[in-house]
Amino acid sequence: MAKIITVINQKGGVGKTTVAVNLSSFMSEYFEKILLLDFDPQSDASVWLCKDYGNPVSQINTQQHTPKTEDILRFGLKNDLDDSAVRLELKALSLSAVSGHNPAVVTTSLNLDRIDREMTGIGERKAAAKLIETIKIISEDYDLVLIDTAPYISNLHYIVVSASDYILIPITLDATAIGGGGNVINLILSDVRKYYNNPGVSVIGVLINNYEKVSNISKAMEDMALEVFGDLIFKTRIKSAVKLRELPILNSTLDKIYPKLPLSQDFKDLALEIYNRMRG
Ligand SMILES: Nc1ncnc2c1ncn2[C@@H]1O[C@H](COP(=O)(O)OP(=O)(O)OP(=O)(O)O)[C@@H](O)[C@H]1O
Ligand SMILES: [Mg+2]
Repeated sequence: MAKIITVINQKGGVGKTTVAVNLSSFMSEYFEKILLLDFDPQSDASVWLCKDYGNPVSQINTQQHTPKTEDILRFGLKNDLDDSAVRLELKALSLSAVSGHNPAVVTTSLNLDRIDREMTGIGERKAAAKLIETIKIISEDYDLVLIDTAPYISNLHYIVVSASDYILIPITLDATAIGGGGNVINLILSDVRKYYNNPGVSVIGVLINNYEKVSNISKAMEDMALEVFGDLIFKTRIKSAVKLRELPILNSTLDKIYPKLPLSQDFKDLALEIYNRMRG
């Protein structure tokens, strides 16, 4: 059974996608089968990792529609998940979604937001339970599942966190990103524990991304982050490096393109820290 980590911060541009995508490769040091699940309608992780993503010509030529996160969720919403045949069908659907991608990735699109509206038809509580179960079922055949999320808080955020073992919160050293991270922890975790019946979810860590150890201001912000999050902050910081910005157009990850870059060592250290925290 996979461990599920959701990468989340309601603040935009703090590096959620950068961290989720690169970890989906760097964590392969410790986990064999890894799935990256795109839960952000902006689809940045999908575009990053899948060369032909959204290319209408290739979709028309192959006459097939690769299932996306929303298709998988919709299937879970409409079917009886206690039925073992349905569970098998759901797994087959998610398998066809990931085929050909390395790391395995389930892509998404702007249509993901529609799921929110479709939930109201069958009662929000029941729908949420079904979607949580759907995420768990498709995770069963993996060792680690990483979920990238959108920079706001919606029903779907509560659902993914409810399906997760851990949340990972990237922040940058500015007051709003630190505040956003703090809000995520307080709001979501208490609600998820209380209303969504997942008392086990915990924060694997808060990651300082885009780190520059230069100014007095960033030192003051680092102190503020340490004060807010304490031991939750990973020892590893991901430095600021423009090379990271090239990776999406190369449809690749840091370890594959720049394995010798100090930044690759940052991600290696982060992967080890996460692994050690997961082992307790
Ligand atoms: N350590 C870093 N050094 C330099 N640039 C970075 C770093 N981390 C992220 N970036 C850049 O910052 C921008 C935002 O990063 P990213 O898309 O990962 O953030 P996000 O939190 O997923 O954003 P959104 O909230 O829109 O989903 C991107 O252009 C990315 O390349
Ligand atoms: Mg993103």
